[in-house]
Amino acid sequence: MYPTVVLDTAGAEAEGGSVGRLPDGRVVFVRGALPAERVSATVIDQRGRFAFAEATEVIVASPSRVEPVCPSVAEGCGGCDLQHASVELQRLMKLQVLNDAIRRIGRIPEPPEIRVVDLLAAGFRTTVRAAVDDDGSLGYRHGRSHELVAAPACLIAHPLAAELLAGARFPGADEVTIRVGERTGEVLVVVDPGVGRVVLPLGWSDEDIGLVGAADASSSFIHEVVADRRWRISGASFFQSRRDGAEALVAAVRSAVEDLAGRPRRLVDLYAGVGLFAATVGADNVVAVEASRASISDARHNLADLGDRARCLAVPVERWRPSPADVVVADPPRAGLRRHGVERVVATGAGVVVLVSCDSGSFGRDAGLLVDAGFRLERVVLVDMFPHSHHVEVVSAFLGPQRST
Ligand SMILES: C[S@@+](CC[C@H](N)C(=O)[O-])C[C@H]1O[C@@H](n2cnc3c(N)ncnc32)[C@H](O)[C@@H]1O
Repeated sequence: MYPTVVLDTAGAEAEGGSVGRLPDGRVVFVRGALPAERVSATVIDQRGRFAFAEATEVIVASPSRVEPVCPSVAEGCGGCDLQHASVELQRLMKLQVLNDAIRRIGRIPEPPEIRVVDLLAAGFRTTVRAAVDDDGSLGYRHGRSHELVAAPACLIAHPLAAELLAGARFPGADEVTIRVGERTGEVLVVVDPGVGRVVLPLGWSDEDIGLVGAADASSSFIHEVVADRRWRISGASFFQSRRDGAEALVAAVRSAVEDLAGRPRRLVDLYAGVGLFAATVGADNVVAVEASRASISDARHNLADLGDRARCLAVPVERWRPSPADVVVADPPRAGLRRHGVERVVATGAGVVVLVSCDSGSFGRDAGLLVDAGFRLERVVLVDMFPHSHHVEVVSAFLGPQRST
């Protein structure tokens, strides 16, 4: 039987909770609590000097605690783990976690001040993955089990995706991924394992939507407009989960490159996806490196106007033979660059590295590895792509040893 304790919380914790101390002085991470609250909590796990707890009752609430807008949160929807905090407090919590990661994990004692880019906090998500219930209706996974929670009024989904979530039925399917082209109005639904009987919401017809089975996702496309370019994106390719977020990332990456390197002669875009940064940074020559065949095929299409100034390589970064570059942009998945990725970045001889990270902890570690390799952290931008969840997107820029002053 685990004990129930009364705790006073202090700072933010990386997974969206808060941190306190147990009566014996050990640090405890409290899920469901916000900073500066008094809560009753059940200790659910203990590992050495740390413990993990779940808030069961809020005794003294933070003034920034709010009632979640979305009814599905109370049902246990696992998508928005911070809807009980005001958007302002959410951002402060993310900022604190990021600052801690840079200082403690990255061992960088005096990082530059972090700039925050705020984006709309409702109706933004243009890629939505949902599970399918026995009756064909769509729902999100419960935060802590495999049960489904209906999302009749999802707060964060783009209005077209929200209509499908609420009103479409896919009997016999396991999962669907809805993708919306915000600027083009196109909608693509990838049905896993395949397209069977489909019931569309009232007012929708077959012409309003592309439907494709998972096996054919790489040959079905939507289009989106970002940075004044039209992008082809297959159902199997990675694309940022919101259009304005893609714009914000392009702007942050582009200005970091311009300010620190001018117009590069040779740009390498690692983990290039469909070519978002390769096509928009503005370089004389660009090499895009991407493991997914679907994404690199889209990148070839999207970079076609650059002719032989662009090369798209379908190879995992860990098997890529680094080529010389002036600037490297790297946007790895959540696990980050890690040591092998940093070694490849360093091997290009680039004087400027722009890192796009979607996890504060792995960003802190990668920043520390780059600093160990002689780079200096010049700039950090927190793009708040995922309001109501603890997730972040971070654009950072580093100057190499030969360019640091
Ligand atoms: C966070 S996404 C970034 C994509 C692109 N930069 C963008 O903003 O749209 C990461 C990309 O890395 C690709 N990827 C994952 N593992 C990889 C690896 N080992 N080597 C190369 N690419 C990889 C994924 O397919 C995905 O397209």
